Amino acid sequence: MEIFDTIILGAGAAGLFCAHFAAATGQRVLIVDHARRPAEKVRISGGGRCNFTNLYAEAGNYLSQNPHFAKSALARYTQWDFIDLLARHDITWHEKTPEKGLGQLFCDGKSAAIIDMLLTEARLAELRLATEVGEISHDGTHFTVLLNGTPVQTHNLVVATGGKSIPKMGATGLGYQIATHFGLNVLETRPGLVPLTFAPHELDWIAPLAGTAVEARVTANGTSFDEALLFTHRGLSGPAILQISNYWREGDAISLDLLPSQNAFEALKAARQDNGRRQMQTALATLLPGKLATALTEKFALKGNLADQSDKALKELADQIHGLKLKPTGSEGYRTAEVTLGGVDTNGLSSRTMEAKAVPGLYFIGEVVDVTGWLGGYNFQWAWASAAACGRAI
Ligand code: FDA
Repeated sequence: MEIFDTIILGAGAAGLFCAHFAAATGQRVLIVDHARRPAEKVRISGGGRCNFTNLYAEAGNYLSQNPHFAKSALARYTQWDFIDLLARHDITWHEKTPEKGLGQLFCDGKSAAIIDMLLTEARLAELRLATEVGEISHDGTHFTVLLNGTPVQTHNLVVATGGKSIPKMGATGLGYQIATHFGLNVLETRPGLVPLTFAPHELDWIAPLAGTAVEARVTANGTSFDEALLFTHRGLSGPAILQISNYWREGDAISLDLLPSQNAFEALKAARQDNGRRQMQTALATLLPGKLATALTEKFALKGNLADQSDKALKELADQIHGLKLKPTGSEGYRTAEVTLGGVDTNGLSSRTMEAKAVPGLYFIGEVVDVTGWLGGYNFQWAWASAAACGRAI
């Protein structure tokens, strides 16, 4: 039987990166993946340019039942470490929309450059693709794993099989099954960074706006994000909605401020004073995209021109613009979700090494762990940091 020091399940962002650290110490390392190509999510990420990290990444940008868990790994492998690594591989990058101060770093070229870099860094490890992972057992010192039906042995087993998002790209629940098999707790999983869907009566006014975008402040459960909001045929999307989807729970309402940079009441009163004969729709269109102005005029049955509106009526309209309450019926689910919330309970893992406290030699890294980042390069930074913590420890 073949014997390895370390087998890493999953040749995604975290698995490949972990292999680099593990193999650097002279260990015999094997990475296996059922997909035909490694790191497919890196390839499609960031619209093909991979938003590989965030300038401001820190534990506060992550959701986890234990908000402190990610601190250690994130502090010991930072965004600056990854930026240095890119420099050593001559990969150039830029900050998207620096004027917004979001700190999102993208490759200047294709995200394939990051995959090439990960494969180069992991070259001392063996990579087996198109390999099915079967039964896994543990005799107290070694794990035996069935790979394409053949048993292999390993001292360390690293689970880097990601979450459930986008099954079409190879996502499975394998990591959660392995955790459960070895007695670890798995927290309820749900789709994250995902568009939200609405009941027919809301879609009646939302769907005709498909393609319209507006800078908005979206709030759910006390958390707000100021980013672009996009109306679609199925509901709401865009960065602001993807961000808030991590905080939204079924049954909750979300609140939209469609004009966060201005006071709508003051702006409408000034417009009334300036030219009271202007139609409501025309007046709103000076503050909001034209199609949205038309839709709101109809939704709130606004009649007449500005001069016809009392202060009270304008205030009520402004309150709707700044605090439109909507109740999503659900999300687009794992089919389009960028990440999976929940996962392997961090209580069962060492925050320094990612090793299961109750099963020496068993490690969980990347998205399979109950640590989920905001949109904007945070999830890859968690993949790099958790992989480094584990790879340096084994
Ligand atoms: P990842 O999913 O990368 O890798 C898991 C690997 O395990 C895969 O190769 C899979 O084939 C393999 N696997 C799964 N089940 C298996 C089984 N049963 N047997 C064998 N192998 C198995 N994040 C970010 O920070 N910036 C960004 O720009 C984006 N963009 C983005 C776009 C889209 C469309 C998606 C879906 C996601 C993103 N993300 C992102 C999120 C990011 O891709 C994600 O957080 C990381 O890829 C997680 O890395 P992991 O290595 O943990 O899992």
